Amino acid sequence: MNGLALCIILPLPQNVIDYLLDDGTLVVSGRIETPSCSHADDGSDEEQDIQWSDDENVTTLTAPEFPDFAAKVQEAINSLGGSVFPKLNWSSPRDAQWIAMNSSLKCNNLSDIFLLLKSSDFVTHDLTQPFLHCTDDSPNPKVYPQLVLRKWCELIPGGEFRCFVKENKLIGVAQRDHTQYYDHVCNQAANILSSILDFFRNQIQYKFLDEDFVFDVYRDSQGKMWLIDFNPFGEVTNSLLFSWEELTSGQTISKGDLKDPDSPAFRYITSEMTVQPSPCLSYRLPKDFLDLSRGEDAHKLIDFLKLTRNQEPESSEDEG
Ligand SMILES: Nc1ncnc2c1ncn2[C@@H]1O[C@H](COP(=O)(O)OP(=O)(O)OP(=O)(O)O)[C@@H](O)[C@H]1O
Ligand SMILES: [Mg+2]
Repeated sequence: MNGLALCIILPLPQNVIDYLLDDGTLVVSGRIETPSCSHADDGSDEEQDIQWSDDENVTTLTAPEFPDFAAKVQEAINSLGGSVFPKLNWSSPRDAQWIAMNSSLKCNNLSDIFLLLKSSDFVTHDLTQPFLHCTDDSPNPKVYPQLVLRKWCELIPGGEFRCFVKENKLIGVAQRDHTQYYDHVCNQAANILSSILDFFRNQIQYKFLDEDFVFDVYRDSQGKMWLIDFNPFGEVTNSLLFSWEELTSGQTISKGDLKDPDSPAFRYITSEMTVQPSPCLSYRLPKDFLDLSRGEDAHKLIDFLKLTRNQEPESSEDEG
């Protein structure tokens, strides 16, 4: 995690927002080579329509291009070390991870980023109804959608923790990846909790604009703490090994093992028996669909074509 910039934020131009919200196509800008296509290049950054042409039975599909925006994104990626983790104002495209070529949110160029953002329901939610679950009466503020690019870091899921702060007090800490049992979390629970509490007191407490909030941290193998993200204190944020009822009701949650009177509750998976499925599984497609769409498995493609041929109604040959 050395280097200068860790994060770069770029405003999303309206034509890029329109493209991300356009359900009409999954073709990703910059991904498909279209030599037979003749677009007038007037030097503008305007979105170009997606077109089908049928010259000499060759069908090409072109994606819109955003040269100015693409140049800014590439420059940002380069200055962040060549690979980034993308997100918008609030959400990352975690639900679309399965669709990426590398099955990861690691992006090296704008096409990688567009593929994830266009496929993500979480991102669409940020763009279309970010205040859906807000309960106060104040009018929704104007939102300027932004692309947040973070320097890519290889994070070990067992080092991530979610911290719940109510009235500026750290009341609960939970293992972020609650689907797995991690030996080191069990063995070093007191150390981990104490470094999170120190980090909160020294770096976070009273510095955030709200007094109720959730923050995510990463504890690296040297024990150093890194702030990953802030989240709203409420239902839109996954409460992981707590329930929102216990976090908001004011009832005392059993404290962690620290002697410190302000010790928050610490919840982590304590045995391999309690392992749960990954929360983003429901957003995935069957692997066969993916292999077919990527053309990676020729045998599956042949089987699929045979299956469709067998299912064609007999009469179709007699038609015409
Ligand atoms: N810079 C990074 N490099 C690599 N992986 C990252 C990076 N930042 C975050 N991640 C991974 O992505 C996950 C989600 O990141 P983040 O919390 O910022 O997204 P989010 O959309 O706000 O998620 P949530 O909805 O759970 O709050 C993190 O738990 C972490 O595993
Ligand atoms: Mg978050």
